[in-house]
Amino acid sequence: MARPCGPENTFKPLAVLLFTTKQVVKAMEKEVAKRSQTITPFFNPRSVAVIGASGKQKKIGYVIAKNFIESFAGKIFLINPNAREILSHQCYPSLSSVPEEVELAVIAVPAKIVGEVLEECGEKGVKAAVIISSGFKESGSDGAKMEEELVMISRKYNIRLMGPNCMGVFDSSTMVDTLFIPRYRLKRPPRGKIAFISQSGASGIAFLDWAAGEKIGISKFASYGNAADVDEADLLEFLAGDSETKVIAMYLEGIKEGRKFASVAREVTKNKPVIVLKSGATGSGARAALSHTGSLSGSDEIFNAVVKQTGMIRVYDWEEMFDIARALAYQPGARGNRVAVITNGGGAGVMIADEIEKQGMKLADLREKTLSGLAAKFPPHVTLRNPMDLGGDADNERFQDALGAVIEDDSVDSIILVCIPHTPSIDLESFVDMVLDTKGKNDKPLTICLPGGRVSLEIRELFEENEIPTYPTPARAALSLSALVRYGRLKNGA
Ligand code: COA
Repeated sequence: MARPCGPENTFKPLAVLLFTTKQVVKAMEKEVAKRSQTITPFFNPRSVAVIGASGKQKKIGYVIAKNFIESFAGKIFLINPNAREILSHQCYPSLSSVPEEVELAVIAVPAKIVGEVLEECGEKGVKAAVIISSGFKESGSDGAKMEEELVMISRKYNIRLMGPNCMGVFDSSTMVDTLFIPRYRLKRPPRGKIAFISQSGASGIAFLDWAAGEKIGISKFASYGNAADVDEADLLEFLAGDSETKVIAMYLEGIKEGRKFASVAREVTKNKPVIVLKSGATGSGARAALSHTGSLSGSDEIFNAVVKQTGMIRVYDWEEMFDIARALAYQPGARGNRVAVITNGGGAGVMIADEIEKQGMKLADLREKTLSGLAAKFPPHVTLRNPMDLGGDADNERFQDALGAVIEDDSVDSIILVCIPHTPSIDLESFVDMVLDTKGKNDKPLTICLPGGRVSLEIRELFEENEIPTYPTPARAALSLSALVRYGRLKNGA
């Protein structure tokens, strides 16, 4: 008998298919959550042991112990067989003599004894260990063998390892802080939405110092060094599920497992922007990476292809990374690439028009209604085109009217405000309030360009504190806006 056709016949297999797809997705999500749980103790442990804690001010083990004592809310155990007390804290001769559970171990002893210390961690039931010590894969074949042993011990006891040869972790919320740079030399950045992961400790420090100086908030930081166990993909996956992180920025010298990294990155960018700075693009850079963290940089063309396929945003220096991270942390993705520019400086307007085009965006064709509405309010010398030059005598009210009109204009997807704040008619403090009044009332991303020195710097800081990304040059403002356009396109599936 011929099979009846019709909707019933096609519906059943489709329902089954949907059901199984849902189940597969759920099972995969469960797997990801399980893997991420193993990373959590690095950032949010109940208790920490600093192994190699020292009372000597210039020692790495001193700085790390001090960081935890000063601001970590969980339990802290200092381990050193040669000291009874460090920084007025009881010191234990070994991890096994600690009477309570230890979740995270921070290891800062010479490479040759890290293995035995890690073995002790395993016996104690430690869940995660940050190994600050150098002298492993990056230093040659003997070091590589020692590193393999660490991996074997970590597998035997199910301990996750960060490092060796790393700075470890900074979490602005739990105040886990394994950075061995004293706080008077490197101020820790405030809490915020940008997570930064870095293979290199020094690059990480430079980024954090910059963030602290500019009062840019950081959620989490991890420097994972040789990536013997925890690698860039593990951290990316973990941060994707971190509610405090809105943007993930990464510094890479090489990728440990290309396929794993690409598949994680592809998933993560669906929900959070990922900015990537990868060095080792040239022969000289690749050789330097090999001796720095023992990394193989791989072909730059292949990396570019991975960036394209996964929807990450590639940058080429720290400033670019920092600029784009702020824009993505504070502003929504743009619906399209049509930009409105409002300025009180004709020259700056011309420069920004160039930059908009260079970045693959275009100046919006403002609606007739927008232009006629503003023409009725403004003096005749105001240029009612895009860029809209409000004139050197523009006051806050003129900016407010123009900003309100382009927000309402459906031919505009995003806005760049270029303000020369030195002109006498601008009231600086209320200028910030005027812009902030528009915040949250529309979904058009906004970046600001405030050129100049001291006066501009003060007002730039006020904007930054209120999460409006603000830049000293047209090129940086346009580049950052273009990242919002690209991310908006990715989110909209274009
Ligand atoms: N458990 C706990 N502590 C121990 C120990 C053990 N089994 N054995 C020794 N210690 C103590 C030592 O007594 C010493 O304490 P003290 O200062 O009170 O004497 C402390 O641990 C440190 O050991 P020490 O031999 O003095 O080493 P160090 O402080 O000179 O160097 C490292 C240790 C880890 C800092 C060093 O080997 C290193 O790797 N430095 C480079 C780190 C780096 O650059 N990492 C990469 C960053 S991106």
